[in-house]
Amino acid sequence: MNVIVRDTYDEMSKAAAEIIAGVVKAKPNCVIGLATGSTPIGTYKELIRMHKEEGLDFSQVRTFNLDEYLGLGMDLGKPYHLDQSYARFMYEELFKHINIPRENWLVPDGLTEDPEAYCKWYEEQIAAAGGIDIQVLGIGGDGHWGFNEPGSSLASRTRVVALTQKTLDDNYESFYKKAGFTRDQMPKFAITMGIGTILEARSAIMLANGAHKAEIVAKAIEGPITAQITATAMHLFKGSMTVILDRAAASKLQHLDHYLHTERAWQEMRSKG
Ligand code: PGA
Repeated sequence: MNVIVRDTYDEMSKAAAEIIAGVVKAKPNCVIGLATGSTPIGTYKELIRMHKEEGLDFSQVRTFNLDEYLGLGMDLGKPYHLDQSYARFMYEELFKHINIPRENWLVPDGLTEDPEAYCKWYEEQIAAAGGIDIQVLGIGGDGHWGFNEPGSSLASRTRVVALTQKTLDDNYESFYKKAGFTRDQMPKFAITMGIGTILEARSAIMLANGAHKAEIVAKAIEGPITAQITATAMHLFKGSMTVILDRAAASKLQHLDHYLHTERAWQEMRSKG
């Protein structure tokens, strides 16, 4: 596992976008797993810039999102702030700005009438696409990946989950409150890829920024593997796993000097060819 630390959120976002762009350039028909939330917005902005200014081509790329609230789906008839679906978030923050065909992106459908059958179908779609080449991840305040809340099996698959109070509080503050919703209007359930699903990706990047994430980031990277902090599954990843942090999110890491040293050593090695 690699830990990369950048001074600012913008630099963290750039580093993440460069890794994703590298995959897209090497494999134009790659499959990307995407995340929502405030963390990856800067990464998506940088990918949009690369598309517009440098011609980064998404025409053959396929994407699968980690999760969606149960009961919500994209409604283009609503103003953005009133449509709190993750599908709409992805559309506004990334898809409408790049040349990805509509049929190439999939966010779990929170409006499905048969969630159980849908979750199975979603897994089948990922498999039919050849699996995920690079998965983008954030980390929740309770240590979740996707909506794999504390206690989720580390072998779990795509399924319906109940959200913890911590997640409801965090997401209320960061999204719903600004849009003028009350707490009672927030969905309490979601569809999420499982940890077992995520671990099958060929590579992954996890992003975190801000001092409010420092403690959970330290526990995820340096604590024991536990289903109580599902992001600790990073240590079970068979493919390449890179954690990209800003300074504030890295501030509680015990072995920060080691990570900084390791990155410098690799950079020196690469520059010598
Ligand atoms: P955030 O959410 O990016 O809004 O902090 C992260 C998450 O819940 O996974």
